[in-house]
Amino acid sequence: MSSLKTASVPVRVNPGQEAFPAILPEWPENQRPAFVQQVWRPAALVKADALAFLIFERPDLDRSERFLLDFGLQLIRREADVLYFRASASPACCYVVRRGSQARFAGLGFELRESADLDVLTMHAGASRESKLEIPGGGQAVRLIDPLGHEVWALAGREHGKPQVELEARLPANTPTATPRVNATVRPPFGPSKVAKLGHVVFQTTDFTGLTNWYMRHFGLLPTDVLYLPDGSPNLIFFRFDRGDEPADHHSVVIAGGLADRYEHSAYEVQDLDALGQSSQYLRSKGWKHAWGIGRHSLGSQLFDYWFDPYGAEHEHYADGDVFTADYAPRYSPMNQGGVWMWGDDVPPHMLPKPNLTTLWHAARLLWRRKLSLARLKQMGAALSEPARPWMK
Ligand SMILES: [Fe+2]
Repeated sequence: MSSLKTASVPVRVNPGQEAFPAILPEWPENQRPAFVQQVWRPAALVKADALAFLIFERPDLDRSERFLLDFGLQLIRREADVLYFRASASPACCYVVRRGSQARFAGLGFELRESADLDVLTMHAGASRESKLEIPGGGQAVRLIDPLGHEVWALAGREHGKPQVELEARLPANTPTATPRVNATVRPPFGPSKVAKLGHVVFQTTDFTGLTNWYMRHFGLLPTDVLYLPDGSPNLIFFRFDRGDEPADHHSVVIAGGLADRYEHSAYEVQDLDALGQSSQYLRSKGWKHAWGIGRHSLGSQLFDYWFDPYGAEHEHYADGDVFTADYAPRYSPMNQGGVWMWGDDVPPHMLPKPNLTTLWHAARLLWRRKLSLARLKQMGAALSEPARPWMK
């Protein structure tokens, strides 16, 4: 953090140990340091209630199918050029793979509570109505294009049936103060852990303000946690859905400012740490490439484990995430590597901007086009340059 812009960082001191700053200082919005800018929130046209599905394009559907089945999704329909997958919580599709000449992330769908909201998006945002929805789960749909060029579907009236998550049988955990498991052992099954639901998707953008405003305005997303650069300007927001008094996941969409416009990763919920660990072991046995984990995130608190799909796109398994109601005020924290995780390995280099010619080229192009200022570029560099922990030099 800049020496000019200081804020009181809580310090935790254990007897006999040196003072150690809190891994993640955080402030409620109305108590944030004076230099930290508040996120401006445009009035929402409608409020999305859930992520419906993600759409990927892939040249080889068979390779994608093998990975996704090993990852724990279930194939519900196979057409010549499209695959549809579901999670265990709902028979409706949560993951679409279309055949495409190049591997790319193509879009996402949101569920709305009211079909009248589709008309709002048609009238006030120029959404086009889909006359025939082929994606399993049905319902009515309209389609928009976001500033990154993704197709964004809004859906109402999807068929979920009775919500059901298939869980493995688990015996209670023993602790130092309670041992409810007596004469019984822990043997979680080896194999792909069933994905319960699609959890979140993360984008990087060169137009942080434009993209965050677009999603807040069109779908009423609420900032849960805001990460700011050393000069106090927000550069990453974890967004949750506004469900009023009904708790929503800490984040379902994450938008980070950066040097590229791209999909970063998507995440899928599994049962618990045992499911995470066994599924990690299973994916390794199948030869898939590991990306990061196992660890626990700070913001959202999830236990996490990241994998690359056959095209290098990161897919995250997670468990035990936080949930919040709509009245929970946003928290603000400084952006740095160390704040991303509570324990586990450090963020791997492939998740950070690479110090190479390509990164330089991206930065130079953005500077030339005046989409990025030199001052902001320096701020981003400063935010990511500090080691994750004092002992990681
Ligand atoms: Fe994630």
